[in-house]
Amino acid sequence: MSEQDGVFVCDGVDLADGGRGIRFPVLAWGQPATGFVVRYDGQAYAYLNRCAHVPIELDWNEGQFFESSGLYLMCSTHGAVYLPTSGRCAGGPCRNGRLHPIPVIEKDGKIFWQPNDQFHVPA
Ligand code: FES
Repeated sequence: MSEQDGVFVCDGVDLADGGRGIRFPVLAWGQPATGFVVRYDGQAYAYLNRCAHVPIELDWNEGQFFESSGLYLMCSTHGAVYLPTSGRCAGGPCRNGRLHPIPVIEKDGKIFWQPNDQFHVPA
């Protein structure tokens, strides 16, 4: 891995389309938090694991971010649903809110998240 690739999360084969997501630690605006990566329509997407309704993690069962149809990310607490491609609220109590995207790339069969001004690598 090189600096430009970012921080290794998992192998690409570990992410099934519409399947379980994988969590990773981040510092979000300087505070310890978790991010997660999922695969949708072949593409990897990563977000801060924090609901736009109440700032708590979405996956009450670890890694379970998709609702049963596999089309939306869902917060297990009150059922807010988000578009996996943009993190925008698609229904439920997250009205007008959205998940915070974390830059992610897939390279040589591996998934990396990329630190930026908002998200840093925990010490
Ligand atoms: S905390 Fe996520 S829907 Fe209420």
